[in-house]
Amino acid sequence: MSEDQQLLCKYEEDLRKMVSETKELTKFGQVADYIPALAEADPDDVAVAIYDGRNTCFSEGNDEQLFTLQSISKVLTLALALIDHGEETVFAKVGMEPTGDPFNSISKLETQVPSKPLNPMINAGALAVTALIKGGSVDEKLTRILEFVRLLSGNSALTYNDKVARSEWESADLNRSLAYFLRQHGIIEGDVEKLLELYTKQCAIEVTCRDLAKIGYSLAYDGIHPDTKEPIMERDIARLVKTFMVTCGMYNASGEFAIRVGIPAKSGVSGGIIGAVPYRLGIGIYSPSLDDKGNSLVGMKLLEKLSKKYQLSIF
Ligand code: DON
Repeated sequence: MSEDQQLLCKYEEDLRKMVSETKELTKFGQVADYIPALAEADPDDVAVAIYDGRNTCFSEGNDEQLFTLQSISKVLTLALALIDHGEETVFAKVGMEPTGDPFNSISKLETQVPSKPLNPMINAGALAVTALIKGGSVDEKLTRILEFVRLLSGNSALTYNDKVARSEWESADLNRSLAYFLRQHGIIEGDVEKLLELYTKQCAIEVTCRDLAKIGYSLAYDGIHPDTKEPIMERDIARLVKTFMVTCGMYNASGEFAIRVGIPAKSGVSGGIIGAVPYRLGIGIYSPSLDDKGNSLVGMKLLEKLSKKYQLSIF
């Protein structure tokens, strides 16, 4: 057995053990149901993948299970908006500060002057970022986002789930309010309904935990293609998005997560979490049973165990 294969077996054995030690936690959470289509997820599902640039290894768990990116897409649209416009334009519309508020909170928008969302990882900030994506129509912008995610994952077949996108679009009153508020205050321009269409489709891009691990790897290695290793974005953009993952990636749980885990990561209410361990690994996790802050319960615990086992904390 080659050294590579030995390492692979070792990871697989460790991952299996960690999944069996953590999967009981699914009992203590709930799948998201404020987007009705997400309520159909199986709360007991757990899947995890690690990509190190050569090998992808899987735990037991359904690594073929597709799930939607939801808030994980915020990291990727931020990178694309930065490629499209550069830092000055993007950060004229959205701030760089963490918030102790939930991801969909509206309260700070009213008290901040100017009324700029605090960061691109909360919904208000992500809407402001998505509004910046270049393209002549919703379709053109969505195609650009999809092509970008296909490159980052090395999976040219990735697409979005129309049922989940529609389900969110039909029930997105809170995000609609945020977007109209932002338009009133000059943070975004143009048709709010079209923005909501693009945002909900971006959130509904479907991946497996393997795709996520590869995207995590790309970010971990400064934005290179996970297979060809060709650069996809400037190093500084990858650095910047990873910094947001550390300070705001797990919302109002980001502080504790930085202490316990210390891996740049981003969660989504579908139960996905992406991890990018600089110059080492990409991690993709799926487990849709969430805690009250909207983070995957098993996902957080698995990352904590992985971080301890392989000393992955960046701090
Ligand atoms: O905008 C929303 O509410 C969802 N499309 C995404 C929220 C989300 O994933 C928050 N993450 N933990």
